Amino acid sequence: MMLSETEIKRAAVLIKESPYTVAFTGAGISVESGIPPFRGGDGLWNKFDPSFLEIDYFYQQPLKSWELIRKIFYQYLGKARPNKAHDVLARMEARKLIHALITQNIDNLHQQAGNQDVIEFHGTTGRLICTACHQTINDTAQITKLIENLPPACPECGGLLKPDFVFFSEMIPESARERSFTAAQKATVFMIIGTSGDVFPAAMLPPRSKQTGATIIEINTAPTSYTDATTDIFLEGKASVVMEAIEKALE
Ligand code: APR
Repeated sequence: MMLSETEIKRAAVLIKESPYTVAFTGAGISVESGIPPFRGGDGLWNKFDPSFLEIDYFYQQPLKSWELIRKIFYQYLGKARPNKAHDVLARMEARKLIHALITQNIDNLHQQAGNQDVIEFHGTTGRLICTACHQTINDTAQITKLIENLPPACPECGGLLKPDFVFFSEMIPESARERSFTAAQKATVFMIIGTSGDVFPAAMLPPRSKQTGATIIEINTAPTSYTDATTDIFLEGKASVVMEAIEKALE
């Protein structure tokens, strides 16, 4: 299906007139930065068994879990850079065309692209936290140094360090959850960018926003479980191509 000029224009007019617009992103927005999605053909979960990210496994086998975490999320993905879709969202935040950005991604690319207020629904690889004294480490160079020896030890107390992202069977950080649902319920336009909608509770955000009156704009390379049930405007295509087209139509 070709990207429809009319639908792009319609989306742009809605965004321009919207008093409160939320952007909600998933792994699809980072695919063009070289980061594979989790599901679908070349998805990470087709290559690796996600059980190494179960929180109980992490505490029982910290070394084995950290070896995969470092390989996948630091040595490999840590070199990724924001792509045009991330850059457009950073400019839209600066122009107050989006009022909240909620991401499921832990790749830190929205932060690198310049978004000042990123609601990290699943946390981020950009921060380590000590499981004993709860001190956090944000400095990339210090993180790179600390994970040279696995499992990494807290420089303060020697406790086990953990990437500050949400492991399977872990709770979503209360503040991120609270802020996300409040923003979704306040939204007049809610943009879904590059997510399969497979993981809860994040996947509840678009239907919740729809229930409270938002118009749903979905950007994805393929239809999802949202497309028929929740989406009002479906823009099929790569996130960078569609986001650039929307930005152009906003001029
Ligand atoms: N542009 C836009 N969308 C894309 C692109 C692209 N270039 N490439 C792929 N997609 C779409 C896919 O069609 C799919 O719908 O992005 C979506 C990626 O889906 P998932 O891999 O399931 O990623 P996501 O929805 O973010 O997963 C949610 O699952 O494993 C957990 O915590 C992890 O945050 C993650 C959560």
